[in-house]
Amino acid sequence: MKFETLKPKIKHIISQDHLSKDERIQEICTILESSIDYYNWVGFYFKNGDKQELKLGPYVGEPTDHTIIPFGKGICGQVAVSNQNFVVPDVSAQDNYIACSITVKAEIVIPIFVNGENIGQIDIDSNTPDPFSVDDERFLEFVCKEVAKLL
Ligand code: SME
Repeated sequence: MKFETLKPKIKHIISQDHLSKDERIQEICTILESSIDYYNWVGFYFKNGDKQELKLGPYVGEPTDHTIIPFGKGICGQVAVSNQNFVVPDVSAQDNYIACSITVKAEIVIPIFVNGENIGQIDIDSNTPDPFSVDDERFLEFVCKEVAKLL
């Protein structure tokens, strides 16, 4: 299965101590976007210091204006507050949603925890409607745990 094949590759990227933290996270974005056809924008947001806002980190895909997202705003901002996975099969059905591109149909956001604290998240946009399953959630939880080892 695709996710099982990707897991050792993710671990390998994380273990590359000669690369910076951001370089390794960037490589993770690249491998995810290029390996899964319905992952069309892959990025990480992190808590911006002591502020109640998220700041965009490494990503692959179209540039976005939303480099800072206040807690509570959009899908990402809601996950910063809820500490829960947020799977959106149809972004047009969401009231509290920040559109980055008109091609996006669905979104998944999974929080990253360090010592029990929600310090950021992986955010994936898809141009395919309703593409995400529980397998994506379990796999991306794995990715977030690996990334947390760097933080
Ligand atoms: N759609 C997100 C904003 C970030 S972009 O997808 C890159 C949201 O509603 O929080």
